[in-house]
Amino acid sequence: MQIQADMKMAEIIHLNYHLLPIISRFGINLGFGDKSVEQICKDYSIDENFFLEIVNSFHLKNYFPKKNLQGFPLKLIIDYLRKSHDHYLHIKIPRIAALLSQLSQYTPPSMTGTLKLIDTFFNGYRNELTNHIQREEDKVYPYVFAVEQVFISKKPNNDIVGKIRGYSIEDFKMEHDNIEDKLFDLKNLLIKYLPEPVDADLSHSILVELFRLESDISDHTRIENKVLVPKVSYMEKWILAHFKP
Ligand SMILES: [Fe+2]
Ligand SMILES: [Fe+2]
Repeated sequence: MQIQADMKMAEIIHLNYHLLPIISRFGINLGFGDKSVEQICKDYSIDENFFLEIVNSFHLKNYFPKKNLQGFPLKLIIDYLRKSHDHYLHIKIPRIAALLSQLSQYTPPSMTGTLKLIDTFFNGYRNELTNHIQREEDKVYPYVFAVEQVFISKKPNNDIVGKIRGYSIEDFKMEHDNIEDKLFDLKNLLIKYLPEPVDADLSHSILVELFRLESDISDHTRIENKVLVPKVSYMEKWILAHFKP
């Protein structure tokens, strides 16, 4: 069922509680009473159409209005992507780290080796994710805004043309690794090699967290590759075609 503007915000959470972190990324807090999506978006000064496209792309597997999403200003898209980064680094990863350290307290000495392996994988993943995000925030997003600024001013200059020729958004797409895929190995370690005498509930909680993180990051990557990249690529092409040295 597609989420519509006249639906109650509370209803949406009942429909799919996985939307809670997505909604909170827009700065919306719980306690919406009987207010509709439209009213809440007004209260929080959120672009209602953008909100609906984002929650529906997350909520419905086969819904991804690429063209509609590309129509929104870059600032909206990047603000959302940045908030997701914050959520991964400052909430999800520390939570998984805390659960893993709890797990080590319940693990019998015979399992220390497996647990060490899990820890090594997790730390490696955390570093990769941090570097991936840092590169996007420090290099890619500022570049994207620079391209947009020149595109809006309709005055291509040497500086931006040099930047586009040096490292275009297509280059970013080629190098843009699927960071969520690497979570698979970590999940697999837990699924295949962690025997039961350990706290089973705790192991399940860790796995559920990993599955959720994976689906959230995969949705995020889809927005980067299918919305951000084509939008910026269009602007780059316009700039290169209209540049007169
Ligand atoms: Fe990202
Ligand atoms: Fe990314």
